[in-house]
Amino acid sequence: MHTWDPDRYLTYADERGRPFVELLARVDATDPATVVDLGCGPGNLTALLVERWPGARVVGLDSSAEMIEKARATTPAVDFRVADLRDWATGAEQVDVLVSNATLQWVPGHLELLPDLVARVNPGGWLAFQVPGNFDEPSHTIRAELAAQAPYAEHTAAVEVTVPDSHAPAVYLNALRTLGCEVDAWETTYLHVLEGEDPVFTWVSGTGARPTLQALPDDLRVRFEEEFKRRLRAAYPDRDGRVVLPFRRIFVVGQVPA
Ligand SMILES: C[S@@+](CC[C@H](N)C(=O)[O-])C[C@H]1O[C@@H](n2cnc3c(N)ncnc32)[C@H](O)[C@@H]1O
Repeated sequence: MHTWDPDRYLTYADERGRPFVELLARVDATDPATVVDLGCGPGNLTALLVERWPGARVVGLDSSAEMIEKARATTPAVDFRVADLRDWATGAEQVDVLVSNATLQWVPGHLELLPDLVARVNPGGWLAFQVPGNFDEPSHTIRAELAAQAPYAEHTAAVEVTVPDSHAPAVYLNALRTLGCEVDAWETTYLHVLEGEDPVFTWVSGTGARPTLQALPDDLRVRFEEEFKRRLRAAYPDRDGRVVLPFRRIFVVGQVPA
């Protein structure tokens, strides 16, 4: 398993946080008793759940010990736990609001997990998640093309089959409607204007490229990163010291029948 670096991930906290706020805006829960954030990461967004529902017991769950350590240090009002959301999904805890932001794409076959997730939500409660929908963009395809070439492929082949992935909004909408939910699903393409040296590399090396980069031995990783950055610079040209990164995201909000 690859590891996470909370500080690297938080480099673009504003850009990564906006979808969470826009997702939550469509959740109409008024006074939930229990709110769970699956794949809470460094917890900065979980803290917004406490602000939104101050009377709720808020739980943040993540499989990364590094992320949970950071979350506990910065947001003491939340019960943060190291756990795999797949284990939680088949457990017994019931919630009124279940949130998962930018996480389910990391869970292979996550569509099959939706019945278990819906079953964890109390009648009348809410399930809300957001996943990236940009896996056909150069920020991902360049990494995958490079990783498939020698001398990298022998190290990266095993992780490249488990890199993040997601579905079209209609796929999630139909899956949740089949489970009896009222569903609101949509997509948004953000145009992130990023500054600094190789900002797209900085972005992807905080998330989607981590498994590939960490699968490489040190000497090859340096070579890979140089070539990856060079190709990213060509795909996302610098204009007046800034780079535009289009980023499509998919939003799904379901209400379980009362
Ligand atoms: C891109 S980060 C999103 C963090 C946070 N939700 C946010 O929006 O900033 C993805 C998170 O999902 C977590 N994650 C991935 N697979 C998981 C799993 N099976 N169970 C729990 N957490 C998982 C990772 O450890 C990571 O912290």
